Amino acid sequence: MHYRTHNCGELRMQHVGQEIKLSGWVQISRDFGGMTFIDLRDRYGITQLVFNMEDDAALCERARKLGREFVISATGLVRERSNKNPNRPTGGIEIQVTALDVLNTSKVPPFTIEDDTDGGDDLRMKYRYLDIRRNPVKQSLIFRSNVAIETRKYLAGEGFIEVETPCLIKSTPEGARDFVVPSRMNPGQFYALPQSPQTFKQILMVAGMDKYFQLVKCFRDEDLRADRQPEFTQIDCEMAFVSRDDVLRTFEGLTKYLFKTILGLEFSDFPRMRYDEAMCRFGSDKPDTRFGMEFVELNDVAKGKGFGIFDNAELIVGICAAGQAEVYSNNDLKTLAEWLQRPQIGAKGLVHVKVNEDGSFKSSVSKFYSDEDLKAWAEKFNAKPGDLLLILSGEAEKTRKQLNELRLEMGRRMGLMKPGDFKPLWVVEFPLLEWDEDAKRFFAMHHPFTSPLPQDAEKMMSGDHETLKNLRANAYDLVINGVEIGGGSIRIHERALQEKNFNLLGFTPEEAERQFGFLLGAFEYGAPPHGGIAFGFDRLCAVMSGQTSIRDFIAFPKNNMGRDMMIDAPSEISDEQLKELYLAVTADRKV
Ligand code: AMO
Repeated sequence: MHYRTHNCGELRMQHVGQEIKLSGWVQISRDFGGMTFIDLRDRYGITQLVFNMEDDAALCERARKLGREFVISATGLVRERSNKNPNRPTGGIEIQVTALDVLNTSKVPPFTIEDDTDGGDDLRMKYRYLDIRRNPVKQSLIFRSNVAIETRKYLAGEGFIEVETPCLIKSTPEGARDFVVPSRMNPGQFYALPQSPQTFKQILMVAGMDKYFQLVKCFRDEDLRADRQPEFTQIDCEMAFVSRDDVLRTFEGLTKYLFKTILGLEFSDFPRMRYDEAMCRFGSDKPDTRFGMEFVELNDVAKGKGFGIFDNAELIVGICAAGQAEVYSNNDLKTLAEWLQRPQIGAKGLVHVKVNEDGSFKSSVSKFYSDEDLKAWAEKFNAKPGDLLLILSGEAEKTRKQLNELRLEMGRRMGLMKPGDFKPLWVVEFPLLEWDEDAKRFFAMHHPFTSPLPQDAEKMMSGDHETLKNLRANAYDLVINGVEIGGGSIRIHERALQEKNFNLLGFTPEEAERQFGFLLGAFEYGAPPHGGIAFGFDRLCAVMSGQTSIRDFIAFPKNNMGRDMMIDAPSEISDEQLKELYLAVTADRKV
């Protein structure tokens, strides 16, 4: 059987008079007695079919019986529509049907197959094949496919080759928990699914592959959020004989190429910001630079006036919300303070100053500060009449993080995070190590294979505790609109420095050898200097589309409990399987 001559999105006025055949799904059927109209849908669009009682009563009767999502083929004549639909590319024509085949019936779908559906998240995931029929999800998957194809084109053009690395590996500690897979042939032993192909790509550099990339699935057993899935995809890359700027140039090039070819947008060179600068100006290592509202520190003008909370604070820091003085009543400010005091943010309180139109001030702390004092604050903020100053205080690092939350919330409320406005930047010079007071050990801020800045390498080998705390990594993140799109680093490529790093991270030489002997060994056979980066591919697609959730850019995502609602995974396995894998069968297990 020949199913179609055209698809449902391509017929136009120039086809009028032609006999054609279309196949697809019944989107909607409208019965007007003498006439029945059916919107026929496929991946490419929707075309209107017309059945006329006067032309063929039996055919019209059959058309009336078609339900939503029935799969049909229709043969007919293309004709001009009398009332055209300007919102649809095929809206100028319709098909006067002469023959109809029902290829399959359908149950009534559990939610409407419309752009705005009435289906809840879990229902949409359970019937994902119906959900994907909806335009927004379908378009997101097509968008993803385009970004993947263009990524491959760009990287191939730059001389990268795609190499697949294994999924059954040994764990690479990168901060999250591993998913593990028991090995039947090796009793009591487990593979881990890769959190990223980090060590393999480094080994490929030792192997002389020079420029590697892979669009690769990564697996991390961590708490899920809108921008995190337990399995996600990276554009993973590594290059030999490069310095930081070579890597940044190549991947800034990729980002610009993708925005240009896919969205038609051009960027000038991406700004670079040091980590400590990002923390001081925005309280975040992934600042949303679509708007200002930068942090202003007030220690020198707000201390010593008898306000104990400020006097005892390590840092007094605030933001200026332009034009918001009149917008926020005392009650609104109280609610905002309560929002900041929730455990998720944990601020102690919120101090506000309203700059009145006549140049006077209204503040929650005017008992302690004269108008003259507050004027000095306002000047620091460059505040204008009508502006609202919002100020937090406390321990420096915590307070900056809390103010970051407040800045983002104000940015959202004031409509400053405009979709379609893209502000990329590189954040560079992250700390290499983070001291954990509870565990009494250092953790790698990025991962254990990141090298220090060249000027810090010597200090790493011989420095004392304080020096080690201040080591800077040769690491970088690409941030767009407050989202960490990607991260990478120049790697350690000498055995001695890598051993030192493992030692600082609390590995005994035996543990380092057991877990990473293969890499340390490889470093003894001529490892070239190398570095790389990985972009979160799902996140890149979401951010480019102005979305905050990555779910609809993944064909079959997991819900917040890590469940696949369609196939109902994870699931229990049989006692036989458990035994075969040498896993204990517990007596009270319900199979
Ligand atoms: P990193 O851990 O920073 O680096 O990961 C790189 C990028 O992957 C994305 N990402 C995620 N996306 C969706 N769901 C998740 N659970 C998730 N976790 C991370 C982020 C992140 O920036 N091997 C190093 C890279 C390197 O050094 O070359 C690595 O994996 O966008």
